[in-house]
Amino acid sequence: MNADARGEEDKALAARAAVAEIADGMLVGLGTGSTAAHAIRALGGRVATGLSVRAVATSRASEAQARGLGIAMLDFADVPRVDLTIDGADEIDGRLYAVKGKGGAMLREKLVAAASDRMVVIADAAKRVAAIGAVPVPVEILPFARASLLSTLGAGAVLRMADGSPYVTDNGNLIADCRLDLTDPRATAAWLDGIPGMLGHGLFLDEVDAAYIAAGGVVSRLERAGASR
Ligand code: A5P
Repeated sequence: MNADARGEEDKALAARAAVAEIADGMLVGLGTGSTAAHAIRALGGRVATGLSVRAVATSRASEAQARGLGIAMLDFADVPRVDLTIDGADEIDGRLYAVKGKGGAMLREKLVAAASDRMVVIADAAKRVAAIGAVPVPVEILPFARASLLSTLGAGAVLRMADGSPYVTDNGNLIADCRLDLTDPRATAAWLDGIPGMLGHGLFLDEVDAAYIAAGGVVSRLERAGASR
């Protein structure tokens, strides 16, 4: 098996391990990206054989995939709490700090994660790092203030493009991918949170309760000590 196929198989293994946590009657949060797509597929399989759940999605793409698999979908605007959310990550470390948003959905992902009793990250070994900080942190910005926000975010901020035009999120906003110093991730997150017009960012420092990481066909689980929020 080549490295790409191994990585894809590991994503699917991690996804299936997390989907095994889903119990009858739960309201489930569905993440976004290629790893989350494996989880949605696995959940669809369980629904097809009788599991009864309802779900909310963190992106239009995940919503469409889930509906296509017969998963009962709710509008997150009507949902006060979610039992369990399963989502991917671009980086995750032993503190369960994660960087998310390469797929552009980090604002909705964070809102759904924050409303969840439990949030589980699923990933292949390539995402497991000693400390987050090697990948750019995506920041969702209000288009009205594009130039001033890019200036505030600094020289390391690059407007995300798609097919020659600025990438537009499901919320109608833009994304700046920012090279940031994550020596003190909480200080960086607090700085971002204080910028007017900064609508959401991909630093997940408190949201992740556990992670299933698959490496070479073996899944390990990291659990936040004393997790309860
Ligand atoms: C989507 O906005 C992201 O947060 C994804 O969860 C993250 O980029 C991981 O995506 P992959 O599973 O495709 O690597």
